[in-house]
Amino acid sequence: MGKVTVITSGKGGTGKSTVTAGLGAALARRGCRVLIIDCDAGMRGIDLMLGVSGELVFDIADIVSGNCPPASAIYPCKTVPELFVLPAPSNVRDEISPYIMKQLVAVLKKYYDHILIDCPAGIGIGMESAAAAADRAVLIANAEPLTLRGCDKVRQMLSDMDIREFRLIINRFSERNFKRSAAFEDLDAVIDKAGARLLGIVPEDLGAVNLAQKGLPIEGKHKAVYAFDRIAARLDGVDVPLDL
Ligand SMILES: Nc1ncnc2c1ncn2[C@@H]1O[C@H](COP(=O)(O)OP(=O)(O)OP(=O)(O)O)[C@@H](O)[C@H]1O
Ligand SMILES: [Mg+2]
Repeated sequence: MGKVTVITSGKGGTGKSTVTAGLGAALARRGCRVLIIDCDAGMRGIDLMLGVSGELVFDIADIVSGNCPPASAIYPCKTVPELFVLPAPSNVRDEISPYIMKQLVAVLKKYYDHILIDCPAGIGIGMESAAAAADRAVLIANAEPLTLRGCDKVRQMLSDMDIREFRLIINRFSERNFKRSAAFEDLDAVIDKAGARLLGIVPEDLGAVNLAQKGLPIEGKHKAVYAFDRIAARLDGVDVPLDL
């Protein structure tokens, strides 16, 4: 039975989709069978990042409304074996309810080692649906006060939904910018503010992000790819030391 992880943040633009795609690829490289479910109805992007957007015919709403069997809406990423994507509906009106998500994911998790669910921005019904079937959550924050402010609300919402396991990824980290902004004394202060145990730090890395933006395999000698590999190992239950 696969482990279901929702990638969330409250605040928009923290890097949820990029990190989800990067971790999906990293888990697949470890030999895991991975499904990424895009829950950002109306603003989907995982299909682009995994290079399958040209092939899309069906999406998650087609499964729910009986237009197609689940397998027809799940697309293999051609460049990364064992990585699959289930796209969000292109129209926000077709957003899936939390109840239906729970039922669908309960079936799908039998076929994968990991399911990663990419959350939309905000803490509305879209996030509730994305988190409904999750065993655990990963909060994506940047080391800046505004994105960290949302973490409290997200944690509250997750615990209301009975999700007790949540961890923090600090994304787009740059030592130089962090020191320059002087918004926090050190990284411990950032982690305290987020109120979640640290799972890993992903550096600011335009090289890796460019791969995702072009739908190319998120691999190679990039700092963010190195971070994705280490975080993926932790998600997969391997005790990899944090490099702080
Ligand atoms: N580690 C990184 N280094 C550099 N740029 C990054 C990194 N992670 C994300 N970005 C950039 O930040 C922007 C937002 O990323 P992304 O779309 O993944 O965020 P999101 O949280 O999914 O946004 P939304 O809330 O709109 O869904 C993009 O331009 C992306 O390329
Ligand atoms: Mg996104």
